[in-house]
Amino acid sequence: MKAAELAMEGEPDAEKAFFVADLSYVYQQHVRWKKNLPEIEPFYAVKCNPDPYVLRLLSSLGTGFDCASNGEINQVLSLGVVDPSRVIFANPCKATSFIRQSARAGVDMMTFDNTDELYKIARVHPGAKLIVRILTDDSKSLCRLGLKFGAPLVSVPGLLAKAKELNLDVIGVSFHVGSGCFDSNAFSDAIMRARMAFNMGKDVGYNFTLLDVGGGFEDHTFEATSSVIRTALEEYFPNRENLRIIAEPGRYYVAKAFSLAANIIARRAPPAAEGAVPQDIEGDSESPTVMYYINDGVYGAFNCILFDHQTPQPYVLSLNGSFHVPSSVPLRASSVWGPTCDSIDCVCTVTHLPSTLQVGDWLAFENMGAYTICAASQFNGFQVSKVTYTTGEHGREVREALKAFAA
Ligand SMILES: Cc1ncc(COP(=O)(O)O)c(C=O)c1O
Repeated sequence: MKAAELAMEGEPDAEKAFFVADLSYVYQQHVRWKKNLPEIEPFYAVKCNPDPYVLRLLSSLGTGFDCASNGEINQVLSLGVVDPSRVIFANPCKATSFIRQSARAGVDMMTFDNTDELYKIARVHPGAKLIVRILTDDSKSLCRLGLKFGAPLVSVPGLLAKAKELNLDVIGVSFHVGSGCFDSNAFSDAIMRARMAFNMGKDVGYNFTLLDVGGGFEDHTFEATSSVIRTALEEYFPNRENLRIIAEPGRYYVAKAFSLAANIIARRAPPAAEGAVPQDIEGDSESPTVMYYINDGVYGAFNCILFDHQTPQPYVLSLNGSFHVPSSVPLRASSVWGPTCDSIDCVCTVTHLPSTLQVGDWLAFENMGAYTICAASQFNGFQVSKVTYTTGEHGREVREALKAFAA
């Protein structure tokens, strides 16, 4: 409402799109994690959303961090409260300079899945604590990572023998079932394969003490996935006295914590649609008759459409200056576009929006916290949308956790 008022007064950029981050949600997800998977230490996957307040909150709550680059390691360590032992460099293919830098920073835990990586690590970080990343079935996931990473089990004995020969310390096994995993059973199969890799380690003289069950956790299947994991651990790792189990959840912590509000900056409607009721307009209810242009798009927050296989759906946040959207307003098949000059910049090919929706009204999108801001560009000079924070339901706990960072 304030943005609308300022825009009316001619304030430049008053109507710009913005995220709202509910830090309570992140807190709640952590409580939920501890309840369902008390044995497994979460190492938050920074790549998913490196928001400074999310990192501060999680560091206060005691999570570790999964980093994929020097930049991420630096960001986490510069919080000033995270010991390097709480970081895993979970990128199996790293630049030598990055490995050297992580040695200097005291980050020892890192993954590998190929022989070349072992040579590089032996040269510049011989004291590293290595974790072999194995290939698992990722066919039940939105983003399959096995195309790029993970050693097939058949190659694991050879890799471990090479690590032994190079005098390297391999401490365990990791996997990733793929991001956005929609079949919890993938974890069971992966844990079974990890057991086999543990046995392979024993055969070459290692006594592994770490199991990393990776990321891939989804909000709506979390309880089911946790149950599958607990059962698989009982079956394949019944004796866990000397076993440390970690995970690398990303999406789980932040996806639903962030929403995006975007302003309708332009509209293209055929003359027949101007002021007409939907049934008077030619075309079926699935063919968009009106095109809305909003001020964030595929080159910004909605890069998740291209990179993360998402299909965001808008809802009307404000209509004609009011948060009340009367249900009596007829809906019209519409499309929603981003602000750039590129036609790939389509946010929604068809959705049903009130026929009275105009330039200046606002749309909102939920579930915008994972793999959005982190990969947004400034193409065409459009800035990445800023974040506004709320502490919601668990405000007291969140504020307490963030106290250490008060300037
Ligand atoms: C190595 C690694 N760990 C963890 C994650 C986080 O996965 P998710 O967000 O699905 O939990 C990713 C995502 O790509 C990853 O590559």
